[in-house]
Amino acid sequence: MNTSAIAASGLRKAFGDKTVLDGVDLEVGTGTVFSLLGPNGAGKTTTVNVLTTLMTADSGTVRVAGHDVTTETKAVRAAIGVTGQFAAVDELLTGQENLQLMTDLKGLGSAEARRIIAELLERFELTESAQKPAATYSGGMRRKLDLAMTLVGNPRIIFLDEPTTGLDPRSRRTMWAIIRELVADGVTIFLTTQYLEEADRLADRIAVLDQGRLVAQGTPDELKRQIPGSHVRLRFAGSTELDAAAQVLGDAGRDDDNLVLRVPSDGGAKSVRALLNQLDDRSIDVEEFSVHTPDLDDVFLALTGRTSTEAAQ
Ligand SMILES: Nc1ncnc2c1ncn2[C@@H]1O[C@H](COP(=O)(O)OP(=O)(O)OP(=O)(O)O)[C@@H](O)[C@H]1O
Ligand SMILES: [Mg+2]
Repeated sequence: MNTSAIAASGLRKAFGDKTVLDGVDLEVGTGTVFSLLGPNGAGKTTTVNVLTTLMTADSGTVRVAGHDVTTETKAVRAAIGVTGQFAAVDELLTGQENLQLMTDLKGLGSAEARRIIAELLERFELTESAQKPAATYSGGMRRKLDLAMTLVGNPRIIFLDEPTTGLDPRSRRTMWAIIRELVADGVTIFLTTQYLEEADRLADRIAVLDQGRLVAQGTPDELKRQIPGSHVRLRFAGSTELDAAAQVLGDAGRDDDNLVLRVPSDGGAKSVRALLNQLDDRSIDVEEFSVHTPDLDDVFLALTGRTSTEAAQ
């Protein structure tokens, strides 16, 4: 990491007597993707608001694109794009008009504005819907339009607050592809998410936020080394079957109360078939079977001893 696009240290923020950020330090290298992972209420949006000049912290320092957020607010704003958690599109305007609003705000000439709007509509697969009011757009289309609006003016540092929450798998993939394109262009991305998988796929570094504190920070691999890996969960009808299976597959992941055996596995068809064949060969019946990949809950359980649902309360 030679230069940092974002550097925050000792961020604190309270609303009344409720401490929301409790000493957050983070650094994001230029041209990298940083993901802030945390459950509802962890303080993700508050962090984004502070980093993007929308809110002032009670204490701590933030530099974005080399500028101080409190003393050089204008310079910071000129360098960044922000897509908030809730789509900022104007529902009464069409997709095209929403984008036009942004090109006007950025003071672009009409020829350039037309070119950029056409490009963005095309890139986000919104050309066909460009003349329809945004109120008629699906959630995914709105999110895409919102991000397209953020890209007007070509910001080099982009903040995305839960860009894929509530999107179906296809729209989520489209959003991931767009984020990767931005990164390939050298844009720095600060992304918040509740999905471990998303952070894992997109981010160079992940920080886990729990009640206003970073409880872990590192590359996706470093983080995953701290949490139990993916496994197959096998439930048996009785302890005889559980005993027999544990003899074959090892008893490290044995849970007698629930008659369950957890066996580390990549979850792929090949390894799962091999595993079931081993039991079949010995005529051990499996009552129930599921493949489990680690999610936010596993991260929280491993790092804090609480589930993310408990952490959110
Ligand atoms: N303006 C405010 N006034 C009072 N409390 C606030 C305000 N903004 C946020 N909070 C509180 O701060 C805590 C963190 O909120 P924040 O929106 O940063 O969480 P989040 O991690 O973005 O959650 P989510 O995943 O639900 O978006 C919550 O308990 C919230 O109720
Ligand atoms: Mg939020």
